[in-house]
Amino acid sequence: MYVCLCEGVTDGQIRDAIYEGCCSYRDVRETLGVASQCGKCACLAKQVVRETLSEVQSSQDALAYPTSFVAA
Ligand code: FES
Repeated sequence: MYVCLCEGVTDGQIRDAIYEGCCSYRDVRETLGVASQCGKCACLAKQVVRETLSEVQSSQDALAYPTSFVAA
């Protein structure tokens, strides 16, 4: 789905940018140019960034505690 019509940026591109190293809304904005024209997409773009960062965070938490170390 398109998040930013002015720059033609999709939610998938935002997610990819985060998986490739962006770690904040500011990083995503600088990388993709999202919200750099009219700014109407800023709220939705921030939401996609927040959701993706929390997904990445929880998958990293899962890796930090392998099942073999979980107390029975
Ligand atoms: S829709 Fe993103 S800057 Fe206009």
